Amino acid sequence: MRSSKILGVGSFVPPKVFKNDDLAQMMDTSDEWISQRTGIKQRHWVEGETTTSDLAYEASIRALEASKTKKEELDMIILATLSPDHEFPGTACFLQAKLGVPGIAALDVRQQCTGFVYGISIADQFIRTGMYKKILVVGSEVHSKGLDRTPQGREVSVLFGDGAGAVVVGACDSVAKANEPHILSTHLHADGSFAKELWIQAPSLAYDGPRLSNEILARGDHFPRMNGKTVFMHAVKRMPEVLVEALKSNNLQIGDVDLFLFHQANLRINEMVGKQLGISEDKIFNTIQKFGNTTAATIPLGMDEAVKAGRLKPGMLVASAAFGSGFTWASFIFRY
Ligand code: COA
Repeated sequence: MRSSKILGVGSFVPPKVFKNDDLAQMMDTSDEWISQRTGIKQRHWVEGETTTSDLAYEASIRALEASKTKKEELDMIILATLSPDHEFPGTACFLQAKLGVPGIAALDVRQQCTGFVYGISIADQFIRTGMYKKILVVGSEVHSKGLDRTPQGREVSVLFGDGAGAVVVGACDSVAKANEPHILSTHLHADGSFAKELWIQAPSLAYDGPRLSNEILARGDHFPRMNGKTVFMHAVKRMPEVLVEALKSNNLQIGDVDLFLFHQANLRINEMVGKQLGISEDKIFNTIQKFGNTTAATIPLGMDEAVKAGRLKPGMLVASAAFGSGFTWASFIFRY
């Protein structure tokens, strides 16, 4: 057995920014409502034909460069998204073609906000067993094309932004020592009994008839729907729980961690998680103000922003946790 480590990180957001006031021109909302309840000030949305694999490609080439990895060295691509380019084949296949690395394994992860952490865990397992040496793990989303901008959808639509983040996970020579860069552990969970609390109903095989029809579109079943209060309640319970699980399994205390990279769904969620665990505010790195919720991309995008801001430096111990649709929740701890 050997450990895995994060070799480098990259990210990309589309250039066009939509501030809360811009959204107030398009739908029945206000900067005050969005800022007070979520902390979001703006988000980036794509234009034209840009897809999830396009953003993923941009983040990936930056991650390859940062990790001094040639694309030919990659053994596998894992791409986490809830907004795939097409229903099939998987978006990892489209990314693989854009990167020009035919033949290597390409896998989609569909665990939404928790997808990147699931992806890290899968990469870690493949590397620990010795099967692969270098794996590209990407979180990428284009939400903007799928949002309901009518009053019925405003609770969801104001939250989400487009963007991508990627890391290259590589093999350590052996089992890493505590002070060496490596992934210490990953913890994954799900409870499908809450699947319909945050979901998109259509297209679906569950209809008595076609997967998509004019009637389905007229009802708006193809837009994401969320029971916001239920999601919030579960997020502030599950994120601390899975962080404590990760710390305990590594015999670590909150104070041992240098930086917390949480999923970015709502600034209030992260503040409540921090308070419950007694984490000092300056150790939590948030990006939701600038990017909104970019689902599978929030953690690698935040990681890259933290590196650029000088907040994440080599040798630091980082704890990361996410919660989202499914419900799913997960954590991982790594030394950078
Ligand atoms: N602009 C203005 N008003 C809005 C609005 C918007 N974009 N969206 C909803 N409202 C209105 C509702 O119609 C409702 O009005 P009513 O009271 O007249 O019926 C009211 O605002 C609801 O407000 P409130 O009860 O304060 O909402 P909240 O405190 O539950 O906050 C969320 C809403 C969505 C911000 C919050 O529930 C949340 O963040 N949940 C978790 C979301 C999440 O994490 N999603 C992603 C998971 S990874």
